[in-house]
Amino acid sequence: MLQGKKIVLGVTGGIAVYKVVDLASRLRKAGCEVKVIMTAHAQEFVAPLTFKEISGNKVAVSMWDANAEYNVEHIALANWADMFLVAPATANILAKLSWGIADDLLSTALLATTAPVLVCPAMNSNMYLAPATQENLKRLKERGVLVLPPAVGQLACGTSGPGRLPEPPQIVAAIEAFFAKKDGDLRALKILVTAGGTREPIDPVRFVGNRSSGKMGYAIAQVAAQRGADVLLITGPCALPVPANVQVQRVETTQEMLTACLSAYPKTDVVIKAAAVADFKPREVAPQKIKKKGDEGLTVVMDKNPDILAELGRRKERQILIGFAAETQDLLANAREKLTKKNLDLIVANDVTAAGAGFNSDTNIVKFLYPDGRVESLEKMAKQEVARRLLDAALILKQNKC
Ligand code: PMT
Repeated sequence: MLQGKKIVLGVTGGIAVYKVVDLASRLRKAGCEVKVIMTAHAQEFVAPLTFKEISGNKVAVSMWDANAEYNVEHIALANWADMFLVAPATANILAKLSWGIADDLLSTALLATTAPVLVCPAMNSNMYLAPATQENLKRLKERGVLVLPPAVGQLACGTSGPGRLPEPPQIVAAIEAFFAKKDGDLRALKILVTAGGTREPIDPVRFVGNRSSGKMGYAIAQVAAQRGADVLLITGPCALPVPANVQVQRVETTQEMLTACLSAYPKTDVVIKAAAVADFKPREVAPQKIKKKGDEGLTVVMDKNPDILAELGRRKERQILIGFAAETQDLLANAREKLTKKNLDLIVANDVTAAGAGFNSDTNIVKFLYPDGRVESLEKMAKQEVARRLLDAALILKQNKC
């Protein structure tokens, strides 16, 4: 999403400048072209040479530089940018931007740009919470400036509160989200993804579960968000980090997943159910840990759980409904039966016994089955790539349905 994007990075004078060196590096690694403007105060913290080496471009520091890259540098940089990012943004630059003061290269270029502007305020908490700063931020937001709020925590001045520059990955995620929403091919879609396995309690310490790691579902959520979709990830317990720009709802049991899915369903365009859902649950959940009694075994009577996907299939209106079929035998026949019974638009048939496929692996081997009988077989590939192909298919299905 960030490949080839031109970012002007305005750096102002705050202790967080050191983090912005890492930010510039991450932006470059993500494929951006980065040109840095530093204020005089920023140069007290880090030398322009550091940003020159990291960005691969000359750093602009003055309106009056005889060796400037461009003839009228502030206008050229303002026009060049796909996005104008200010990090860290001091109270001073926010005030200047808010009031239209142009008294150095950065503030002048900011006034001249028509590119989207993202500011990342970072300062002492009292300065951040001061009415003047808050009014300036309010005015900037009303004008369409994007503001990434500071993190709360320990500050260089020794106090604790709001004012920390968010970590560089978070700033990159905010930039990705902006471009994904602007240019991504899925930007008009609300996509619900389920991931991981559900757990059914036996007693307060034991449960019935399965081997799902969540990797397949999380990959789908991640790629969908990178392509601009509004993504709700409903996930069973798993240890994976939540992908950037994805809304997450954590559940444990099948019943909880059903409730969460039904609540989101009316506002959803596409559902992708990669979760491994427990088909059965213990009839009774012991209130206390079940104790061993001599040599006696334990019999747990299981009842059937609701079938979430089948229920969504019954209620389907404009939604595209995509299921997975985790099979250990008769892959195509079993998957096709689920496709029809659950009223799906596509099912991803997954032979979970194949090497490099199914549970906990980083790759998968799947076949897409459609109601008209079409079968698309994918070779072994990373789950991210399966996700990309599946979202391509979902988009076509949605476009054909509209
Ligand atoms: O999480 P990973 O480790 O990456 O593993 C990925 C995976 C193997 C879990 C994934 O690729 C996969 O195949 N997911 C589907 C697992 C499953 O529950 O399959 P199923 O054939 O039992 O169910 C068919 C479909 O109905 C699934 O979309 C399932 O989410 C849904 N279902 C099943 C039972 C139930 N009670 N409610 C449901 O909604």
